[in-house]
Amino acid sequence: MKDVIIACDFKNKEELFDFLKPFDGYNPYLKIGMEIFYKEGPSLVKELKSKGFKIFLDLKLHDIPNTVEKAMKNIAELGVEITNVHAGGGIKMMEAARRGLDSCEQGKNTKLIAVTQLTSTSQEVLENELLINKPMNEVVKQYALNAKKANLDGVVCSPLEAPIIKELGLLSVTPGIRFNDDSKDDQKRVATPSLAKELGSSYIVVGRSITAAKDPLEAYLRCVKEFN
Ligand code: C5P
Repeated sequence: MKDVIIACDFKNKEELFDFLKPFDGYNPYLKIGMEIFYKEGPSLVKELKSKGFKIFLDLKLHDIPNTVEKAMKNIAELGVEITNVHAGGGIKMMEAARRGLDSCEQGKNTKLIAVTQLTSTSQEVLENELLINKPMNEVVKQYALNAKKANLDGVVCSPLEAPIIKELGLLSVTPGIRFNDDSKDDQKRVATPSLAKELGSSYIVVGRSITAAKDPLEAYLRCVKEFN
C-alpha cells in the first residue's frame, strides 16, 4: 500500500514524457494535476494507463453536488487508482462524488479522497483569510470526519496530520514533502519522506524535490528508500 507518488506538474505531454525517460522499467505512481490535465485532457490519462502507470488524478473538484456527480461519472471511465474532491464542498458533495464514480464499473475501484486544507495554507491564512478560528489540526480532523461520513477512502493532508487520519481509519495521501536540504517553496507544512513514514502517511506525493532535482531518478529512489 505504501507508495511514493510523483507530482507531474508539467506544462505539457512532451515535458512529461521527457521527464519519464530515465524511469523506464520503474513504473512510478504518477499524480496528474490541473496544469497538464487542462492542457492535454483525458487522452493523456488514458495513454499513461495503457502504458501501465498507476494514476492519482488530482483535480480537486469543488462545486454543487449535482455538477460534481456528473463530472465524476466522466472521471470514472478513466479507471484511475485515486482521484479527489475538496472536503470544503461538504458531505453531500462528497457523497455525490462517490455516486458518480460508482456509476460505472471502472470507477468502482477508484479510491476517492478529500483535500482537507492545502499544505500551502498556514494557520494565519486559515484565521485571517478563511475566517476559521480553530487550530489547523482540529479543522483537518473535522474535514476528515466529514469525508468518513461520506464514505470516502481517505484524505489529502500534510504528513504532520497523518497520525490523526490514521486514528480515524482513513488513508492519508500527503504532499508537502521535502528533503532536509531542499527549499520549502510555497509549502508551509512540510516533512521529509522518513518523517512522513514515521508519522504513518499511506502515500507521499513528491513534486519539485524530484522533478526539479539534478537527477530525478536518484531523488525518486531516495524517496522510496526513505519512505519504505
Ligand atoms: O512540488 P511539490 O512537492 O510542492 O508539489 C506538491 C503537489 O501536491 C502539487 O502538485 C500540489 O498541487 C499538490 N497538493 C498540495 N497540497 C495539497 C494537495 C495537493 O501540495 N493539500
